[in-house]
Amino acid sequence: MTPRLSPSIVAARLDDAPALLAMQKLAFEPEARACQEWEIPPLRETVEDVREHIRTATVLKAVDGDSLLGAIRGIVTGDSCLIRVLVVAPEAQGRGLGTRLLRAIEDAHPQVGCFDLTTNMIMAGNVRFYLRHGYELVEQVQHSEKIRLAFMRKIARR
Ligand SMILES: CC(C)(COP(=O)(O)OP(=O)(O)OC[C@H]1O[C@@H](n2cnc3c(N)ncnc32)[C@H](O)[C@@H]1OP(=O)(O)O)[C@@H](O)C(=O)NCCC(=O)NCCS
Repeated sequence: MTPRLSPSIVAARLDDAPALLAMQKLAFEPEARACQEWEIPPLRETVEDVREHIRTATVLKAVDGDSLLGAIRGIVTGDSCLIRVLVVAPEAQGRGLGTRLLRAIEDAHPQVGCFDLTTNMIMAGNVRFYLRHGYELVEQVQHSEKIRLAFMRKIARR
């Protein structure tokens, strides 16, 4: 059995932006391939976009020594925290790290009433992942011929 990972989850720094972007571009490639659309938001972002979120939102990274293994962002608007760009490095996927990052960003926002996110339904494992972690499917939108978006929400326990 593949061992579970136990890296540290800490706040990202501005100089992490290039490595975070490189990891997300690699990890979201299968999604782009599945829907034959290379202009999806995680692939369009620039290093400056990532820096901007590190400056203005909560960006957490998972690290094991010098290795960057995952990241997640939380952007608060009013009573809601928007979860964006949850990513686990391809070689570390399926070993519990995505679950840990999701919990960490929720725990970092004890003041909000709910957590919102959007995911591409072509990646069936993603919807299953969020359902398992207490998110509900609140709306589905056919964004383009191949992209059907799922809007998901979890009411925070307070
Ligand atoms: C989706 C993702 C964050 C999950 O993180 P993870 O560490 O692999 O997930 P965990 O080990 O905590 O949980 C495993 C569950 O995640 C889901 N999952 C989604 N994509 C997966 C992948 N490529 N490999 C393994 N599990 C995946 C499945 O539901 C899986 O459960 P299952 O084995 O019963 O099907 C990660 O696979 C990833 O970074 N994927 C690419 C980027 C992405 O799609 N991010 C989400 C955007 S909304």
